[in-house]
Amino acid sequence: MSPPNQRRRVLSGIQPTGAGKHLGNYLGAVRHWTALQDEFECFFFMADLHSLTILPDPTELRQQCRKLVAELLAMGVDPAKSTLFAQSHIPEHAELSWVLSCLTGYGEASRMTQFKEKGGGNVGLFNYPILQAADILLYQAHAVPVGEDQRQHLELTRDLGQRFNNRYGETFTVPDPYVQTSAERIKDLQEPTAKMSTSKGGAGVLWVIEDEKQTLKKIKSAVTDTGREVGYDVEEKPGISNLLTILSVATGTPVDDLVGRYEGKGYGDFKADVAEAVLQMFAPVRSRFDELIADPGYLDEVLREGAATAGPVASATMATVRDRIGLLAPA
Ligand code: TYM
Repeated sequence: MSPPNQRRRVLSGIQPTGAGKHLGNYLGAVRHWTALQDEFECFFFMADLHSLTILPDPTELRQQCRKLVAELLAMGVDPAKSTLFAQSHIPEHAELSWVLSCLTGYGEASRMTQFKEKGGGNVGLFNYPILQAADILLYQAHAVPVGEDQRQHLELTRDLGQRFNNRYGETFTVPDPYVQTSAERIKDLQEPTAKMSTSKGGAGVLWVIEDEKQTLKKIKSAVTDTGREVGYDVEEKPGISNLLTILSVATGTPVDDLVGRYEGKGYGDFKADVAEAVLQMFAPVRSRFDELIADPGYLDEVLREGAATAGPVASATMATVRDRIGLLAPA
């Protein structure tokens, strides 16, 4: 448990696999991370062990890992303020995951929707949420800024943290329950009832790093709804509502104000403005990314320094855990 006078600790993770990070990752998660850096003690990590559940090609995985670090830095994660590290550099993640798996019921793990949605798979995918709980509890995090899709994993984390504390004595900070930020659930542009996701890819996903022409084309050809009014109604107008959300967050304008502004105007003008706002939002990120990716030595150094800060925190928690559960200390 952290002393009460300590700055509250924030932790979150993101997977490196896939073509890159998309608008949903940025608006739903990373943008919030960067906003929290000044006030909180932040730990952000690359969930490379989680990515192994899809058995990525090793050469591609290595490239994707460096790309992710460059993307995160370009999006505003600042290593001078936050600790940015790779999950696999801290062996205690896997170790605590094993301990927690022994406290998790088979039925409880089977109820996790991600495994069911993916139609089953390897045991790594089945254990995925337990590793995620270990990621969080290891750092005694108070708050975990994630998108809506991670809510169930946070609930499991709280359950496992409480269960451990009840059985072995207060050991873990139980993170705050998930706080919903519904405005930032970004949907696929071609299928606006499904979330924008890395695995889906295609014309409905806006990558943070892609050619401006691609971004423009995808927004212009985003699926809209019947009718001609720009209005917010997730059930009846999921396509336009998603674009309104994007425009609202990108420009910092409430959705209601935007709806008023587009009264009597067609979808064409509206989409042009959405495209313009997204391009403006990403322009500095894209130019910074180009500089960062050209310097892999710097990216590796950021991770090395991150591990130097994260490692002692993780090993202190794990030493307590080993003691509490009755393992002998190494002689
Ligand atoms: P990942 O890598 O799939 O996604 C990273 C973050 O992006 C959010 N997100 C979205 N938000 C809004 N709209 C969308 N369409 C959208 N798609 C993704 C996710 O909610 C997430 O916050 N299991 C995690 C990684 C992880 C983790 C952790 C997170 C591993 N251990 C510990 C927090 C704490 C994942 O796969 O995120």
